[in-house]
Order: sequence, then structure tokens, then C-alpha cells
Amino acid sequence: MITVAELVSPERLMMARELATSLVATFGAYGVYRLLCFFYGEWTSPLRDLPGPPNESAVFGNLKMLWGAPSKKLYTTDCKALNHIVMNSSVYQKPAPARWFLSRLLGEGVLIVEGETHKNQRKIMNPAFGAAQIRELTEIFIDKSLELRDAWTAEISREGEVANVNALAWLSRMTLDVIGLAGFNYKFNALADGEERTELSHAFANLFGRAAGRPGPLMLMRARFPLLRWIPARSDASRKQARTSMVTIGKELLQNSKDSLVKDGKFEKSSLTNRNLLTLLVRANMDTDIPENQRMSDEEVLAQVPTFIVAGHETTSTATAWALFALSKAPETQKKLRDELLAVPNDNPSMDELNSLPYLDAVVREALRLHAPVPNSSRVAVKDDVLPLAKPVVDRYGKSHDSILIRKGDELLIPIMVINHDKTIWGEDSHEFK
Ligand code: HEM
Repeated sequence: MITVAELVSPERLMMARELATSLVATFGAYGVYRLLCFFYGEWTSPLRDLPGPPNESAVFGNLKMLWGAPSKKLYTTDCKALNHIVMNSSVYQKPAPARWFLSRLLGEGVLIVEGETHKNQRKIMNPAFGAAQIRELTEIFIDKSLELRDAWTAEISREGEVANVNALAWLSRMTLDVIGLAGFNYKFNALADGEERTELSHAFANLFGRAAGRPGPLMLMRARFPLLRWIPARSDASRKQARTSMVTIGKELLQNSKDSLVKDGKFEKSSLTNRNLLTLLVRANMDTDIPENQRMSDEEVLAQVPTFIVAGHETTSTATAWALFALSKAPETQKKLRDELLAVPNDNPSMDELNSLPYLDAVVREALRLHAPVPNSSRVAVKDDVLPLAKPVVDRYGKSHDSILIRKGDELLIPIMVINHDKTIWGEDSHEFK
């Protein structure tokens, strides 16, 4: 038998060993450098002087408990500071690891991109989200609500007087139908077909089910350290497969939208037989008034399909489920709202009729306040900055500050749910549904 040592010369073996050693040393040195940068940033950060909860761990602080993320973050409910953060997207952007993780699933959609690209995408998308356009979609919302009402009524009559209905599961099917039709004229038929999934919902479930999964330690490391992204992960193959089918279906939907805007081979700005978010944004993107360098590429337009599903599906179903929960615990509110709704003379109210119902409006706002479907968000500073405060903060040395020094790389948490429950803003009964 011939051994490897006999096939390969000792010089080659020595060279391979030296190459391997130098590769390990290079990656090791890079790792140590990143760790040193991380600890240097932590120890010299001005955020260290701000008061916070007792430290659970010298290395992880309290964030391990919150998100399992080892990092120092500014956590503020000061409304002036928060306004400054969300209004200055050239300084405060979504953290790169989260954007990388999501972009692998969705592509470069508006939820992920930043800077000029974000500005251009928003400019083109804004008309699609205008009040006039949303008004045109009301029929979809009403039709699907009536379909859900009939499904629940049928379930109740099957079981007798009282039935156990899984409201969240049904609402999730309803809002998937709504976002399909309102988003890109796609029939998921989730309410009608129950467990029977269409191709797009299958691809989407795969993308956010098995393929995405809960990010494990390797995925978190890859998200934080770009150099590690060449290491293959077990979920890569199924993610790629799900992405491929998502893109194939997205291309079909995009072509349908484009076709509906073309008459006799020419783009017709006024021709809009196919009203939905995607077609409206394709129309805005094809508009001759848009400079060529600001137009979205087909790839960017395609990325908005899964983006709309992610942004508009579970947010709306969770919000509605929480609103029903809150109403179930407040019979008087429920009665008052039912009376207001029953006074509407028909089963198909227009958007204007719905908008003229003040109690409905108050219930929706209060449910969104108390049970915010997106409980928090985060940002990272891409430049040094000074964060203005409405109320001065006293640091751990007793010194008062009316602004906070932010350094490039500092992470900030936007605690939506905490602000919505803040007693200093809403009063002592801020935890109640009123
Ligand atoms: C109750 C329902 C909803 C809630 C509570 C909600 C909440 C939010 C929040 C908090 C953000 C900001 C995230 C951040 O910047 O960190 C956001 C962004 C966004 N939402 Fe919603 N959303 C809802 C429904 C929808 C629907 C129906 C759509 C339609 C497709 C949608 C599309 C978007 C888009 C495109 C963005 C990104 C905007 C940008 O980055 O410029 N959302 N949403």
C-alpha cells in the first residue's frame, strides 16, 4: 500500500504545514484584535457612566438576559432622544448583523437597506402607501373580515352554542390573504383552504421556518464577523432553495404588475387595472419623472415582495388578536364599540365611513399602545454624535448631563413597548386598557 507520505514529498508536507500554521495564526490574530477592539470600546465608552440596572455579568452586562447579545447598548425612553435617533437615519442605522441576517432571507428590501438606497426606495414606495391608495384596498380588508366572520360563525354552529376558536391562528390566515391581495394581487387562499398551502406561502414558511430557524451560535458569529461568513452552515442549502422559489414567484408577480401597466406595447401611467402595493410601486418606478439613477432595479423591486409579507402579515394579525383579547376583558368597552359599529347601515363600509367612527379609532390606538406588536427596535451609530435629552440624566458620579455623547459603533435600543407603558407619559394607569 502507498501512504500519503510516500506520494507527497517532505518539502511539500512542510510547506502545507507552514501554510496551515500561518492561516491559523492570521485568523487567531484577527480574532484577538477584534476582541481587544470590543473590550477597549466597552471600557472607554461614555455610556458606561450612565445609570443602569445592576450588572449581572462583568462581560455581558444585562443584555444576555434581554437578547443573549454580548454588547453595551443605550436604552432610553427620553422622547427627545428617541425622536433624534429615528429622525437622523444618516447617523443611526439598523445594525449590520441583523441586516445581513434578514437580507439573506428577503433580499435588499426597504426594511434592510440604509442611506441613499433607503431614501430612493422610500421615495418610490411612498405613493403606494398614501391614504388615497389604501382607500382603494378597503374592499379587500372588508371582504376578508366578512369571510373570517362567516368561518367563525360556521365553527360555532358546528360546536353548538359555544366554541373554542383559535383566534390568532385564524387571524394569521386572514392577514396572509389580505397582504397577498393588497400587496401583489396574489391569492394565498389561506382562509378558504386551511392547511392547503399555495406555492408562495410554502416558500415563505420554509424561508422563515426551517431555513431561518433560531439563529445558533455560529449564525450569530457569522452575523457579527463578516470574515466568518464563508464557513458553510447547515441551513444554507434549504435557505437557498426557499429563496430561489420565492424569487421565481416574485418574478411572475412583477411581470404581471408590469403587464398591467402596458397598453399597446407602451407604458401607460394612467392605466391601472391591477391596484396593489407592488403594481403601484412598479408604476412609480417606471414613471418618466424618476431620474434613471434613482430607479429601483428589478432585484430591489422583487425584494419588496417578501418584505411586505414580513412587515404586514404577523404584525396585523397579532395586533388584532391583542385588540380582541383587550376587548374580551373590557365588556363595557366592547358594548360601546359594538353599538358604534352596528349603527353603520351596511356590511361593506367604506374607508371614510370607518374613519368617521371615533370609538373604533380610540380602541385601535389603545390596543396598539398597550400591546405593541413590534415591542422594540435597535439602531447603531455610524458616526459620532451628541444625543439631546428632554430630561437631564445623572451619571453614576452624580454629574448631570443634558445630552449624551454617542460614539461611532454604539448600539441603541428603541424600547417601543416600554415607552407605551411609561407612567410618566401615560399616567399611573398606563398598564390598563382604557
Ligand atoms: C399593526 C401593524 C403594524 C405595526 C405595529 C408595524 C410596525 C412597524 C415598525 C415599528 C416599523 C419600524 C421598524 C424600524 O424602523 O425599526 C415598521 C416598518 C415598516 N413597516 Fe410596519 N407595521 C405594521 C403593519 C405594516 C403593514 C401592513 C405593512 C405593509 C406592507 C408594513 C410595512 C412596513 C415597512 C415597508 C416598513 C419599513 C419602513 C422603512 O424602513 O422605511 N407595516 N413597521
